[in-house]
Amino acid sequence: MREIIKKAAKTNNLTEEEITLLLENSSFNGELFAAADFTRKQNVGDGVHLRALIEYGNICQNNCFYCGIRAAKKDVKRYRLDTETTLKAAALAKNLGYKTIVLQSGEENAAPLNEFLQIIKEIKNMGLALTLSIGEKTYQEYLAYREVGADRFLLRIETTDENLYQTLHPGMNLQNRLRCLKDIKKLGYETGTGIMVGLPGQTAKSIAKDILFFKELDADMLGIGPFIPCPGTPLENEKGGSLETALKVMAISRLIMPKINIPATTAMEAIEKNGRIKALQSGANVIMPNVTPQNERKNYALYPGKPGILQTPEEFLNSLKQTLSQIGRFVSQDAGMSLNYRPIE
Ligand code: 5AD
Repeated sequence: MREIIKKAAKTNNLTEEEITLLLENSSFNGELFAAADFTRKQNVGDGVHLRALIEYGNICQNNCFYCGIRAAKKDVKRYRLDTETTLKAAALAKNLGYKTIVLQSGEENAAPLNEFLQIIKEIKNMGLALTLSIGEKTYQEYLAYREVGADRFLLRIETTDENLYQTLHPGMNLQNRLRCLKDIKKLGYETGTGIMVGLPGQTAKSIAKDILFFKELDADMLGIGPFIPCPGTPLENEKGGSLETALKVMAISRLIMPKINIPATTAMEAIEKNGRIKALQSGANVIMPNVTPQNERKNYALYPGKPGILQTPEEFLNSLKQTLSQIGRFVSQDAGMSLNYRPIE
């Protein structure tokens, strides 16, 4: 095991078998996390990039089995922020010193395109970097967002196991998701993907394949989080993923993709207080503070136990700065573009 960790740190390459072994054994977790932490420090430094997350809307046409805002979940109060409210949240983020806005929403294909393009333009005019996390779209739509200035796009593959993908995503298919990621790359977005860890039916081998997929795609950023069963969804009675395994997937990814950006995800904090800090010490270099207007936050509940629903953006930032300094880290002052990113010719 020790040899595998060393090899990963040295060559940035592992085989499917080696990754599977790492995932199946826990006795060397401490060494794995320490190696990922060292690789993170050497390659992307001690600065932590903050991305202000605006949960732009929870209207969704899909029925992903795990998700708390799936279309069939009737007790969700649906919303989409209007332009003014969205821009107000972005301005607040800018005032707090954040350099990147992330607009995330359910997949709502009927949403008015022009209004959305206007929001992108205005956020770009504020001098901020912009990440979109709004799901599967057509090439033309990805192109339209890009043309008005969107910089980055997050679309987790969730799992590369075709059968598992099909079981969890009725009416969707893995091929289209792959097509989306290829389009996003082709258009020159900084491209983010990722998975949930601990999905029912997911194996170490299938996660190993996911990790190799991240590398093959040459992702610039990776969001990894534990699956958390959500009441009122088909998976409500399943077992959730553990923080430990999610951290391992993240740490292995860091070792073989040393330059990418990796957030310490909110789901990690949701299943364990200080989960995000542990992540920052096991390979992560990004945090996504929530700046969604207070009144809508509770309605954007992908899973239970989401932290910080009652905390103001100012409160969160102050306590984060304090915690970061305690672990020898600091808030990065630049836009935090992925060092792995290469613009298209
Ligand atoms: N538990 C953990 N993560 C979830 N997501 C959606 N539902 C859940 C859940 N129940 C994740 C998905 C999606 C991201 C925005 O949130 O991976 O891509």
